[in-house]
Amino acid sequence: MSTRFTSHVALPDETKTALVETLNVVLATTIDLKSQVKQAHWNIKGPQFFARHELFDKVAIKLRGFADRIAERATTLGGYAEGTVRLSVEASKLPEYELRAVDGKQHIHALVERFSAYTVFVRGAIKEAEAKNDPVTADLYTEILQGTELDMWFLESHLNV
Ligand SMILES: [Fe+2]
Repeated sequence: MSTRFTSHVALPDETKTALVETLNVVLATTIDLKSQVKQAHWNIKGPQFFARHELFDKVAIKLRGFADRIAERATTLGGYAEGTVRLSVEASKLPEYELRAVDGKQHIHALVERFSAYTVFVRGAIKEAEAKNDPVTADLYTEILQGTELDMWFLESHLNV
């Protein structure tokens, strides 16, 4: 989808269009990841139930905040933010959640795999934004990468014993 609305951000239109396109894929993937973390939050069983249940909720809340900022960067650049659940399913870079996961370790494994894929994708998006000379979008992605790598450590620390 191309840039649709007037934006006075000082970048060429085709650059803004390309940035918006990637922002919408990051948005879709972030919404998908957030929904998968909530799936784990609701369905986890077993040892350390409450600590893990609470951790997953904190992680999901952070992702929700990132999704909002990604969407608003797309609109700042004159784009249309594509953030419904249906649009997110089509554009997300992640596989569906591990629906057979029951105990804590299975959920954490499933989440770490998806966080790993997500952070690889965001690293690529940072490079793309830098190549397109947009430090604002690159900085937003970098902040998201910092936050999601931190949460990936919180998750994988439950496995490294
Ligand atoms: Fe809850």
